[in-house]
Amino acid sequence: MNTRVFSGIQPTGVLHIGNYLGAIKTWVALLDDHECIFCIVDQHAITVPYEPAGMQARIFDAAVGYLACGVDPARCAIFVQSDVPEHTELAWYFNTVTPVAYLERMTQYKDKSAQFHEQINMGLLGYPVLQAADILLYKAGIVPVGEDQSQHLELTRDVARKFNRLYGETFPEPRTLVGTAPRVAGLDGAAKMSKTLDNYIAINETPEEIWKKLSTAVTDPARKRRTDPGTPEACNIFSLHAFFSTPAQRARVAEGCRTAGIGCLECKRLLAENIARELAPIRERYEALRNDPAAVRRVLDEGAERCRTIARETMRDVKGRMGLLR
Ligand code: TRP
Repeated sequence: MNTRVFSGIQPTGVLHIGNYLGAIKTWVALLDDHECIFCIVDQHAITVPYEPAGMQARIFDAAVGYLACGVDPARCAIFVQSDVPEHTELAWYFNTVTPVAYLERMTQYKDKSAQFHEQINMGLLGYPVLQAADILLYKAGIVPVGEDQSQHLELTRDVARKFNRLYGETFPEPRTLVGTAPRVAGLDGAAKMSKTLDNYIAINETPEEIWKKLSTAVTDPARKRRTDPGTPEACNIFSLHAFFSTPAQRARVAEGCRTAGIGCLECKRLLAENIARELAPIRERYEALRNDPAAVRRVLDEGAERCRTIARETMRDVKGRMGLLR
């Protein structure tokens, strides 16, 4: 047991293979020799317009997804952010040491505030402060995330440093751990895989559904006809082969593509088979867990309980240092 690990994903419903490759696989790899805490960050999810009625279902689906992908609750804590009120409490204290100018520089904030320009709220600006609180509440030292989160992690370190300077050494400066799949391309070939852009394959899709989505997915835009030689490096689908196919299969596909020996459909068929094979056990566990909501609830309750114990201790320390403890 060494450095504590913390990470989180927003509850957008069933997880997709971008979440799986970009985050969850790395989490599972860390379970053996780290104390790990994995969070479903529902309070982050409400910083942009959302549908309250479906929130509990999305949280449930995210939890089922974690478990189905092998995040083993016997070896880590899995919990829902809003079940541990200390996250928002610590975020408030961190608000008082975070320069507004730093937050206005965050690219995610700039993107989201452009996208939702009529709904720019304090929560959206303060999003990275809550994220810093998530991590530092548990004094985590390692944060496995996609590369799009590195700016938020830098802010987390800024907050830790500033707090430590003002109130004495309290928090570690956590390091970002970007896994082997820092960015998984979406099926549209334009953006990273995401739920909102509907360019994803979910972890519980059947072989037929996987094929249906892949068959219409964007490939190398320069390869217009079957007889055109393609450029695997420029192809969205080829980039997915990196995660699901063997080196020999990849070499064969790359060679076939470059020489127009194989067409895009053939390349996609192999990928579809490989994805379906890897997802089969996940889908099976997913369906089983979905039918056992009480077991899932128990995992989340136990996780929250464990986290509250650590959180209370940190808050005592923080409040004491800030002169807020009677
Ligand atoms: N902002 C992260 C994302 O969108 C989610 C997140 C919230 C997170 N709090 C966190 C990730 C703490 C790691 C650690 O992916």
